[in-house]
Amino acid sequence: MTSAVPCTSAVPSLEVSGLAFAYPDGHQALFGVDLTVGRGERVALLGPNGAGKTTLVLHLNGILDGGAGSVRVAGLPVDKRNLAEIRRRVGIVFQDPDDQLFMPTVREDVAFGPAAAGLRGAELERCVDKALAQVGMAAFADRPPHHLSFGQRRRVAVATVLAMEPEILVLDEPSSNLDPASRRELADILRSLDVTVLMVTHDLPYALELCERSVVLSGGVIAEDGPTRELLCDEELMRAHRLELPFGFDPRSVAVPR
Ligand SMILES: Nc1ncnc2c1ncn2[C@@H]1O[C@H](COP(=O)(O)OP(=O)(O)OP(=O)(O)O)[C@@H](O)[C@H]1O
Ligand SMILES: [Mg+2]
Repeated sequence: MTSAVPCTSAVPSLEVSGLAFAYPDGHQALFGVDLTVGRGERVALLGPNGAGKTTLVLHLNGILDGGAGSVRVAGLPVDKRNLAEIRRRVGIVFQDPDDQLFMPTVREDVAFGPAAAGLRGAELERCVDKALAQVGMAAFADRPPHHLSFGQRRRVAVATVLAMEPEILVLDEPSSNLDPASRRELADILRSLDVTVLMVTHDLPYALELCERSVVLSGGVIAEDGPTRELLCDEELMRAHRLELPFGFDPRSVAVPR
């Protein structure tokens, strides 16, 4: 027997279809992007400067809209009527943590989203404590975010998003400006989470370490979609899209994720 309603676990976390977008000044940044990310997948979004990565990310929770095509998150179309629900489901960690931390204490910053969504009292406290514990920042709950180091603020920014229990976690350059230990610790955190991840990064070893699959966005279209290791070993593809591995780095020498 067939059913018109798809089984929930079969619905992808993200379905981008024919997405095209021009900025108000007329500059077209996306030319028909198709991308499906299954539930629980970790996918790296690679591509040169100006490829359209951030433009694509900003469509995932409706910050940008009005172009052609569609975006669905767990089956729900991203449009004005359900923006509040979409923003609960899509957790975006921006490149600069200061873009999302604005409260007097870490605890209040992490509580902000869940409180706006209606959580109160002990339930809200539990949610905040859990998110801070997940990123190893429980001891910093009562500190002002602006007294923390960059790496600590990045972790708190991740906690503000985790507290919403998103369907998909989207990170724009998560490893930038982190020291090697913080970079590794963030990788451990991401690996330990049971959540769909889309990670924009120029840090190709990080993509290889964390994401089995990578997508190359170039000139506003998806130029390649496949196993990260295969992509990074394809010298012609790498050159064509201005992707470069660090000197001496051999993608074959790294164990695949999971
Ligand atoms: N507000 C804007 N108005 C007009 N054009 C814009 C605007 N923001 C971005 N663009 C253009 O859209 C294109 C895609 O930009 P986008 O920021 O999405 O690239 P990106 O892949 O995130 O690059 P990077 O790796 O440098 O972060 C670029 O050509 C850029 O100049
Ligand atoms: Mg960008």
